[in-house]
Amino acid sequence: METLITERLVLRPFRKEDLDDFYEYAKNPSVGPNAGWKPHESKEESREILERFIAEEESWAIIHKDTDKLIGSIGLHNDARRNNSRVKMLGYVLNEAYWGQGIMTEAAKRVLKYAFENLDLNLVSVYHYPSNIRSKRVIEKCGFHYEGTLRRANELYDGSIHDSMCYSLIKEEYRG
Ligand SMILES: CC(C)(COP(=O)(O)OP(=O)(O)OC[C@H]1O[C@@H](n2cnc3c(N)ncnc32)[C@H](O)[C@@H]1OP(=O)(O)O)[C@@H](O)C(=O)NCCC(=O)NCCS
Repeated sequence: METLITERLVLRPFRKEDLDDFYEYAKNPSVGPNAGWKPHESKEESREILERFIAEEESWAIIHKDTDKLIGSIGLHNDARRNNSRVKMLGYVLNEAYWGQGIMTEAAKRVLKYAFENLDLNLVSVYHYPSNIRSKRVIEKCGFHYEGTLRRANELYDGSIHDSMCYSLIKEEYRG
């Protein structure tokens, strides 16, 4: 995975040494459930998932340049809802202590640049649950187009069912 740089952030591959910072945000019940996953219950659980991230090479670790701390992740994943090898789905989470500073918008814009200019993707998709207004704003600020709502599209780990708000950006719409 290529390392990507922005004004305040370094987006680099995950490393084993990221475990403590990873567990710090992954155990927070305000973080994972908004992205569809259960908060981590132990550092051991985080270790296993971290090893998967390292092997899969789909997610960048978001590092704050000022402190060299891991504060979140952002990735380009296969989109199970679209049958096109030049499509990827954007996903992201951020440590709650860093919310509201424009950090994820900064990271997402850099990843979109890489997706269209380096990976030559056709389309990047992104989804959020109706209640996740913060993510909605990130998506809007990145220039995504709203496609519609897939009703009752996701059943979560706790059995709850959620609609999925669908967005995409195609290469021709991307302005850099
Ligand atoms: C979604 C998330 C990544 C946003 O990251 P962030 O760095 O805080 O995002 P930004 O600062 O770039 O933008 C957040 C926007 O939400 C707005 N916002 C913050 N709190 C809000 C609230 N309570 N209600 C409405 N809007 C709110 C901010 O004002 C900002 O919009 P603005 O720039 O128009 O003012 C972060 O909240 C997070 O990790 N949430 C948990 C995981 C998650 O939801 N992942 C995405 C799954 S789709």
